[in-house]
Amino acid sequence: MQIADVQGEIDHELVSKEQIERKIKEVADQVSKDYAGKDILLVSVLKGAVNTMAAFSQALSINVSMDFMSLSSYGAGTSSSGEITVRQDLSSDVKGRHILIVEDIVDSGRTLDWLMDELKRRGAASVEAFALLEKPSRREINVAVKYKGFEVPDEFVVGFGLDYDERYRNLDCIAVLRPEVYQGGQA
Ligand code: IMP
Ligand code: MG
Repeated sequence: MQIADVQGEIDHELVSKEQIERKIKEVADQVSKDYAGKDILLVSVLKGAVNTMAAFSQALSINVSMDFMSLSSYGAGTSSSGEITVRQDLSSDVKGRHILIVEDIVDSGRTLDWLMDELKRRGAASVEAFALLEKPSRREINVAVKYKGFEVPDEFVVGFGLDYDERYRNLDCIAVLRPEVYQGGQA
């Protein structure tokens, strides 16, 4: 889906499809070098990071395993509940493995911080993270994101996996919604 398909609901585009593709390729090249010869497990957080996981994993030139976890930090609103719960756990044992978490966005940092600690607690050999987006102005926990995509302002963004109330995940770019959408109306 493109912006033109939901024109009246989008305020403006923040990161284009082409910019996303270029950045993901750049990060994938770096990760392929850094992890050459290592057995790596990509862990992605459902559902928002699925688009990034798909594009990123295909851009790598090394062979990886992939697993998924469903965590909840947000309900239907636009601000964090601050509480992390596991909705669906990984199917892999992470003990002794090199883990690279693939995230859509780091906002307060709570979700990523919790997940990195949890995977270390389970005995991972190493835990690093790639986040497609970061909102530095909203950071509450100074979690280390080794592989960085784009910084975005303190606005609620949708697209490329990110939703508002389960919609706009299949938008091919990152965009800012019109305020009317989350003030009732269309969402
Ligand atoms: P954090 O725990 O506050 O860092 O938030 C992490 C999660 O909140 C992300 O993985 C997203 O699922 C969600 N989130 C944060 N900001 C946005 C946004 O602007 N749009 C959509 N989802 C967001
Ligand atoms: Mg997420």
